[in-house]
Amino acid sequence: MRAIIQDSYGAPEDVLRVAEIEKPAIGDGEVLVHVRAAAVTGTDWHLLRGLPYAARLVVGLRRPRNRVPGLELAGTVQAVGPGVTTVEVGDEVFGWCDGAFCEYVAVPENQVTAKPSNLTPEQAAAVPIAGFTALQAVRDKGRVGTGDKVLITGASGCVGTYAVQLAKHYGAEVTAVCSAGKAAMVRDLGADHVLDYAAGPVTATGFDVVVDLYGNPPLRTLKRVLKPGGTVVLVGGTGGRWLMGMDRWVRAAFAAPFLRIKTRPLVHKDRLDDLVLLRELIEAGAVTPVLDRTYPLAEAAAAVEDVRQGRVRGQAVVTP
Ligand SMILES: NC(=O)c1ccc[n+]([C@@H]2O[C@H](COP(=O)([O-])OP(=O)(O)OC[C@H]3O[C@@H](n4cnc5c(N)ncnc54)[C@H](OP(=O)(O)O)[C@@H]3O)[C@@H](O)[C@H]2O)c1
Repeated sequence: MRAIIQDSYGAPEDVLRVAEIEKPAIGDGEVLVHVRAAAVTGTDWHLLRGLPYAARLVVGLRRPRNRVPGLELAGTVQAVGPGVTTVEVGDEVFGWCDGAFCEYVAVPENQVTAKPSNLTPEQAAAVPIAGFTALQAVRDKGRVGTGDKVLITGASGCVGTYAVQLAKHYGAEVTAVCSAGKAAMVRDLGADHVLDYAAGPVTATGFDVVVDLYGNPPLRTLKRVLKPGGTVVLVGGTGGRWLMGMDRWVRAAFAAPFLRIKTRPLVHKDRLDDLVLLRELIEAGAVTPVLDRTYPLAEAAAAVEDVRQGRVRGQAVVTP
């Protein structure tokens, strides 16, 4: 089968190539999914580059442990292994996996579930990880509720487009931060106010929750914009090849009591019950993926770079 292969860390165009590899065998509790689409996110760029370096302790010191990139998919179940009870051959599913940039992938059955009935496979592939991250940031860490004033940085990105819709779903008044060129799109997602990050630091105040996806305002800015006792959910990091801003999470935790704010770092968890909830929200019309571009598998490197450079409005997928 055709797959995208990565044997070293580096720029996407230098390290990704198309290759023929063995179709995977499935074991107990696994299903073989014929991949219709695989999402491309900022996380793929980090994994291709091997950044931050600290992450290599987990993903592979000198080269990636998983040679096939791609972490989320939508497709059709082609075969099921012994003991599989929740999905059947022919089911259209979406979920998360290791190695989605290929034609077939073996996935544990508890990592896929029925695709939202109102989405194409391309749209559905873009849901899982960005959706988990946004849901867990807004609902679990931010505990966003009716009437809360919520500021979301990075609102036009993969995670941000879900975070805006979910914060509105939970009843918040949402102020979104993104580039001027994507302001209309973010307003269409439900944001009540949209700020251009190029216009300088946020001057609005009185927020109950800041969901900090990108841009990483200094802690003194967060204290100024938050109500006393307000919460900042730390999701994304920028700067520094070793830790890429994760050190800021530690500094924020120490500084929080003095600033009279709460800091809640998020490392998202892949959870089937959250995927089912996202499907329900999508089918109810509360959340809609913003899929901008679809690339053939062979153009995976261009897709990753376009996402990284902000040339995509929302999300992108590759279609094997
Ligand atoms: N903690 C976790 O579990 C977890 C999980 C997933 C992702 N993440 C992190 O969350 C962050 C967002 O991920 P993503 O996939 O949504 O990224 P993305 O799709 O690349 O989106 C990036 C966002 O940041 C904005 N942005 C770009 N340059 C900016 C600048 N100079 N100042 C302010 N905003 C700027 C972009 O706005 P424009 O496009 O409008 O320019 C866009 O809204 C990343 O840091 C990622 O690593 C964390």
